[in-house]
Amino acid sequence: MKIIIEPFKIKSVEPLRFTSREEREAILKQAGYNLFNIQAEDVLIDLLTDSGTSAMSAHQWGGMIEGDEAYAGSKSFSRLEQTVRDLTGFRHIIPTHQGRAAEKILFNLVGGEGRIVPNNTHFDTTRANVEMSGAEALDLPIADGLDPTLIADFKGNMDLEALDSLLEKEGPERIPLVMLTVTNNANAGQPVSMANIRQTAEICRAHDIPFFLDACRFAENAYFIKLREPGYANKTAREIAQEMFSYADGCTMSGKKDGLVNMGGFLAVNDDQLAGRARNILIVTEGFPTYGGLAGHDLEAFARGLDEVLAEDYLKYRIRSVAYLGEHIAALGAPIFQPPGGHAIYIDAKAFLPHIPPHEYPGQALACELYLVGGIRSCEIGSVMFGKTDSQSAQFKPAPLEMVRLAIPRRVYTKSHIDYVVECIESVVRKRDEIKGMRITYEPPVLRHFTAQFEIL
Ligand code: F0G
Repeated sequence: MKIIIEPFKIKSVEPLRFTSREEREAILKQAGYNLFNIQAEDVLIDLLTDSGTSAMSAHQWGGMIEGDEAYAGSKSFSRLEQTVRDLTGFRHIIPTHQGRAAEKILFNLVGGEGRIVPNNTHFDTTRANVEMSGAEALDLPIADGLDPTLIADFKGNMDLEALDSLLEKEGPERIPLVMLTVTNNANAGQPVSMANIRQTAEICRAHDIPFFLDACRFAENAYFIKLREPGYANKTAREIAQEMFSYADGCTMSGKKDGLVNMGGFLAVNDDQLAGRARNILIVTEGFPTYGGLAGHDLEAFARGLDEVLAEDYLKYRIRSVAYLGEHIAALGAPIFQPPGGHAIYIDAKAFLPHIPPHEYPGQALACELYLVGGIRSCEIGSVMFGKTDSQSAQFKPAPLEMVRLAIPRRVYTKSHIDYVVECIESVVRKRDEIKGMRITYEPPVLRHFTAQFEIL
């Protein structure tokens, strides 16, 4: 059989609410043209994020009842700890309520004024946590990774030459750790090769600098390695993931992605001293080290999710179904960041709407149009999220890419939902010339994309 079907059947359903175009026009205006301000019930297909939006399995829901809610020494924590240890090999597993809480603890401890944290590409919360500590968040993606049209296997890779010369110049005094984000979310969900992970680790070791993974989407990355990297076709996704972690000294993890849960995360490290200091902060800000901001039932579901996500039939369906969306809209003339990523399709809004310059936010304009046409919620990842206007010179500095992310929640939408999205995008392609740019009317000092307000030009 050539067809790949969803490797599950549906036991519990959540009805969708349909709205008219007129209703959506009013809703969007009311929201200040910011899709984060729209009520979820006013969205038909929600592709805002793949984070915390997964459907849990019956086995995970069963685990919710079995969750051990003990404040200290919860059985569910032991199960999570064992699962993570088997997978990653790291000594200390420190649970947090989500990924950014792990980032905050880590960068509180290792960041600070004058320090530099290199990453293939920081995701927005990672960048914000590094910068809030006073350190500089430096992206070192490979040049090929920034070309939206190039088809290559591992466009998420770190630029190893740039990393090596940076570490040579600055050394461990200024660089507390190096991070590698797998898959590279801010770079269109592109995977990182095992060779790149291994070589990054070698460069770090040569300079005596710890190496961490931002492991949110480790299973999707592992499956890309299986499909694309010589020597891995006959290994299981679990074996590949274990090898990925074996090169690192620690990781941050958001269970809301490849943990297949709605809430959860952890920080894992080998360094005993660092772990001790992290636990001290954890107790003050998240909770006791055997629950860290999570309920016992969350810990239980998370442990089970980390096993399920490595099932090969699931990963095969996951990677293939995301690519299906990308291939279909690309064939209709929507320029996408090539090749399709693991958790999302990124539309190249600059190429889609060449008449809208970056300072008029083509990605935001496109995201709003997708909502108007079909009630689809997507996310701008471009100059609204990463662009800056210098307060002194009023000079606008655009983001390197203007993208709209269609993130696919795990195990939530069926092929017909995706076919509906394809049809909506087809109609946007037909009238793309009529779409207008946008202007920001309000913005907060940090992470402006969440709360900014816009108007149509
Ligand atoms: N690192 C990466 C690569 C991420 O994509 C995210 C979250 C985080 C860290 C933070 O994890 O949300 O659990 O605090 N990304 C979500 C997204 C929000 O939509 O891509 P968190």
